[in-house]
Amino acid sequence: MHDDEFDKPATIAAAMIGVLPSPTGDITPQIKPSTTYTTDQGYMYYRNSGPGLTDTETVLCKLEGGADALLFSSGMASATHLLLALGPGSHILAPETMYWFLRSWMTKQAPALGLEISLYPNGDLDAVKAGIRPVETKAVWAETPSNPDWSLMDIAACAELAHAHGVKLFVDSTSATPVLTRPLDFGADIVMHSATKYLNGHSDVLAGALITREKDDFWESVRDVRTGLGSTLGAMEAWLLLRGMRTLDVRMQRHSENAMRVATALLDHPGVSHVLYPGLPSHPGHEIAAKQMIGGFGGMMSIRLAGGADAAARAVKRTKLFKPATSLGGTESLIEHRGPIEGPDSPCPQDLLRLSVGLEDADDLIADLEQALGQ
Ligand SMILES: Cc1ncc(COP(=O)(O)O)c(C=O)c1O
Repeated sequence: MHDDEFDKPATIAAAMIGVLPSPTGDITPQIKPSTTYTTDQGYMYYRNSGPGLTDTETVLCKLEGGADALLFSSGMASATHLLLALGPGSHILAPETMYWFLRSWMTKQAPALGLEISLYPNGDLDAVKAGIRPVETKAVWAETPSNPDWSLMDIAACAELAHAHGVKLFVDSTSATPVLTRPLDFGADIVMHSATKYLNGHSDVLAGALITREKDDFWESVRDVRTGLGSTLGAMEAWLLLRGMRTLDVRMQRHSENAMRVATALLDHPGVSHVLYPGLPSHPGHEIAAKQMIGGFGGMMSIRLAGGADAAARAVKRTKLFKPATSLGGTESLIEHRGPIEGPDSPCPQDLLRLSVGLEDADDLIADLEQALGQ
């Protein structure tokens, strides 16, 4: 059987499908730190690309069902380079609720670099349609499920709308991962990840990724921006990321099971006014999530507390298992009082706690939250 005949995420990730066999029979891929190559092997200089980087990009590309992948030094680098490749004068539509620092870069820093950003309420296709400007609009940015309310965008419907106007659709799929959603299958043009999160999964690598549906001229210009700005992911990080990705499928299943257990347990808690988790039928995006998320709804959820911002600040200090920290997607559970982090410009409610539900025993996680919330 040829490698390409395996297309299930668990197999691609665990067996690192696409990585060339080692000439010495090593089962695990080698760390390939060289920054320069003899001229006869297809590589030249690591800032352009290197064989270790290609190993990790190949597996990720197969996981997303894409035509090519590029790895960057962070998720922010992957997103900003992609938008910069659109060129000055480009207008981009982005959701109001999304990873806050990227929204902040888009609205505060991108204009000085020639990009104009308009925000739309996440998931609102009428607003996207109304926001598209002839010629000027080059891309719709979507994040689904999106920080920190885990609202959904219907990727297929958004892709159809964008393409009807000659506009590209870029999807930040960090919280879903290719195990739960493959945006390219739904028509997205390029999928983006903060690989720092679930793809790596162990809170010890900073990395970003882009995967394209088509290897076209625009994709080559994205590659040129990476080479030009010099933000190629380092060889050690690429190796660690590949190591982390080998367990992606099994981790995402456990994250999803645990988050569903935690969300369900908190639904009737008197101190909790809202449980925001796409797996719950009460979540406004549940129908779309059920359509485009396969095999689970992921490990990210938020809760809003009836006691307001003070209750949220208190609860974060009381958890024992959930660590009070930012970021997401590691084996360990994290809790964050999100409003004060995102600042006054953010639509994030001040009573919101963001939970990255880890791989611990679900009963322990529920007990920890109940004692922290005072039940
Ligand atoms: C959804 C999402 N996109 C992008 C980023 C940025 O990624 P990085 O921190 O790897 O630069 C983050 C980081 O928290 C994120 O959560």
